[in-house]
Amino acid sequence: MDTEAVAGRFPVVRPRRLRRTPALRALVGQTRLHPADLMLPLFVKEGLSEPAPIGSMPGVVQHSRDSLRKAVVDAVATGVGAVMLFAVPATKDATGTAATDDDGILNVAIRDIVSEVGDDAVIIGDLCLDEFTDHGHCGVLADDGSVDNDATLLRYQEMALAQASAGAHLLGLSGMMDGQVGAVRAALDGEGRTDTAILAYSVKYASAFYGPFREAVESSLVGDRRTYQLDGGNADEALREVMLDIAEGADIVMVKPALPYLDVVRRVADMTSTQGVPLAAYQVSGELAMVEAAAQRGWIDRDRAILETLTSIRRAGAGIIATYWALDAARLLRD
Ligand code: PBG
Repeated sequence: MDTEAVAGRFPVVRPRRLRRTPALRALVGQTRLHPADLMLPLFVKEGLSEPAPIGSMPGVVQHSRDSLRKAVVDAVATGVGAVMLFAVPATKDATGTAATDDDGILNVAIRDIVSEVGDDAVIIGDLCLDEFTDHGHCGVLADDGSVDNDATLLRYQEMALAQASAGAHLLGLSGMMDGQVGAVRAALDGEGRTDTAILAYSVKYASAFYGPFREAVESSLVGDRRTYQLDGGNADEALREVMLDIAEGADIVMVKPALPYLDVVRRVADMTSTQGVPLAAYQVSGELAMVEAAAQRGWIDRDRAILETLTSIRRAGAGIIATYWALDAARLLRD
């Protein structure tokens, strides 16, 4: 037989050899997911006695204080890395008073779960005013109706101290005000709270994919957040925001949403890895809703889609992923 001719006709190099069995595929697998790298966002609503479903977020609920405690215990038992707490207060006002009240629902709920699980979980408080303001913006308003950056920083500083004294390990700064990381770091350090860490939502795009979340927190927002959240077409600006937040003392930086911005996750990861700063990405409510809605119609395999989206985010360079599917994913990874 003319071996040269055979070699010419048939491939010598065959990538399929390493795909033949599950064991071979596992051996050469490049991207691994682990429950410890997942953060689970949770909602708690003041005054609820039973958890309430959220229509646009199948499987996700607004918790009562009691059911929240149980959910956090469950998350710890499943090995999820962190819980991120969002709260829906009974009353809202122009400056978001409930956010800085030690008896406000967010601070009370942080205390509840700290007393339940202590340091067994990483507890993250959402540090933003949008759930607490009657106009729904992430900050306080100036007389002309615009969001007043520097007046908002003062509110964030008070919020940070309230959450730190409630026992939060990490503060999730999601408001997209300029200088928020530096302002909060200074306030914490000024009160000796040097151990309270900052998760900076450095790169948060003005996105349609937050729609279901706004139902979850009963947002009062009319209009949009385009004067403070990033424009979806801008990637260089993402790097600028990350550099600023690292310089201001962010302990972890985040890109949000995840799936429509995987290129940004990659570019930011290439930068943060050289700085030694961990990078997170937030798989937001609309990303969950798309998959759940398609799965309900039998149009997509839900479990495979969950793992595929999470793998994509991990592969793009996020070491940590915030996902409403943290428990589902942990179970899928185990089985
Ligand atoms: C605002 C905030 C938002 C989300 C987290 N924090 C929404 C917004 O900016 O309107 C969205 C999360 C999601 O969609 O899952 N503090």
